[in-house]
Amino acid sequence: MKLKYLLSTNNVDLKTIDKITNENKKIIKLSGWLKTYRQQTDLFFMSLNDGSSQKNIQIIFDKNNTFCNNIQEIFDKLKKLSVGASIELEGILVKPPETSKELVELHIINILHMGIINDRKTYILSKGRVKPSIMRQHQHLRCKTNYFSAIMKIRSRSLHALNSFFDKNSFYHVDPNIVTTSDCEGAGEVFQIVAPEDKINGGKDDFFNKKSYLTVSSQLQLEAVCGGLGSCYTMNPSFRAEKSNTSRHLASFTHVEYESSFGGLDELMNLSENMIKYVIKECLEKCEDEYIFLNNYYSKGIINRLNGYLKCDFKRISYDDAIDIIHKLVKKKKLKVKVLPKWGDDLGSVCEKFLAEKYFKQPIMVYNYPKSLKSFYMKEDENNDKVVNCMDMLIPHIGELIGSSVREDNYDKLLSNMSKKNIDTKPLDWYLDLRKNGTWRHYGGGLGFERLVGLLTMDSNNFNIRDCCAFPVAYGECKY
Ligand code: 4AD
Ligand code: MG
Repeated sequence: MKLKYLLSTNNVDLKTIDKITNENKKIIKLSGWLKTYRQQTDLFFMSLNDGSSQKNIQIIFDKNNTFCNNIQEIFDKLKKLSVGASIELEGILVKPPETSKELVELHIINILHMGIINDRKTYILSKGRVKPSIMRQHQHLRCKTNYFSAIMKIRSRSLHALNSFFDKNSFYHVDPNIVTTSDCEGAGEVFQIVAPEDKINGGKDDFFNKKSYLTVSSQLQLEAVCGGLGSCYTMNPSFRAEKSNTSRHLASFTHVEYESSFGGLDELMNLSENMIKYVIKECLEKCEDEYIFLNNYYSKGIINRLNGYLKCDFKRISYDDAIDIIHKLVKKKKLKVKVLPKWGDDLGSVCEKFLAEKYFKQPIMVYNYPKSLKSFYMKEDENNDKVVNCMDMLIPHIGELIGSSVREDNYDKLLSNMSKKNIDTKPLDWYLDLRKNGTWRHYGGGLGFERLVGLLTMDSNNFNIRDCCAFPVAYGECKY
């Protein structure tokens, strides 16, 4: 039986625990790893967890008070155990004494299998809590910790929530190719793929007859899909060869990208805000135990903060307003910056974080950035040819979570943008072709999923993107 079901308030065995007698004892099979282990002469007290629940169950063996036949054998086996060991056992559910905080205890009557800790002195998890920063050096053991397993469970739930959100809004799930011959953003930070023979031939690119890369974004392909399916999304990984060794950058991250037809900036902002709120709500509702744990020990106040995000309207400000606010704050000495961004400059991560975290204290959506700053595919504003209809969603303690825009649907403008930004049109003939026949208004965005996990589980004290996925791959770091 899974611990999650055993400890659930719907479990009839728990509801009727008062009525269990020697005659109607129920034998339960349970497996897991020991979270605590204590021996008091003839008595063993342990807590067990099988990963299905954030809560543990107390398991007990009392040599002098058991009706099983193989008392000495069980006793000898239990002596070999310690924190972290695995055990598969049979036991009887018992109502704990009045003084106990537990809902239920399990008294062991048989041990089926066990996996002991061979060297307790060197086993990192033998003694209590280990800091997340230290566990980053032992990634294969991280899911055994309460902290990391809570994050991974919320991560899993948020993926479900995203799928369900898109499904409810008639988006189709399509994962385009990861190996590509275009570099999407034209940013030049791509990992190149080299086939074995090509390497021998001195990098002749024979395999595909041209250079190929790991995708930095599936957006352009998704736009083509959306041109028929109406709305679609992917959960593909994206790869960035940026040499950024920060708490927010990975070299490979899960990129939730979405595209939708027949709408503009308002539809884009509504969709993006609703999506984030839907995921937060689902996670808070379905991961109650994980949130209680995080709120108590690692990310204090997270439940209130996330509930606050659900209640507020995400503030929508134009890039122009953002620049004005930054200038006023710097003048009043409320914000210190190395270089003050002027109109046309990137806001920079310091200003972005300050706006969301300190000034608005909530998620914000900054729209209509200068055209010169943004990618060729973003749609020029109808009334101002200096700006494009794009939106970056900025989150306190995370920074940029979503990069998005309305897509340029005018063939001539798209071509001119590509030429101004020195983008080779040849590999993107097909993309231009989409604007030749039946071009259509459409919009979309990309969400860094690990950053979303950071938003859902961490605060400014503990946010680190390396703790938002099981095996992070980042600049200078690819251990597994
Ligand atoms: O802003 P970006 O670069 O936008 C695009 O790639 C668009 N083509 C997306 C689209 O419109 N379909 O990336 C989108 C998001 C960022 O806001 C950030 O959350 C995340 O992807 N991201 C990263 N996450 C982790 N590590 C990195 N190195 C990241 N680079 C971007
Ligand atoms: Mg961006």
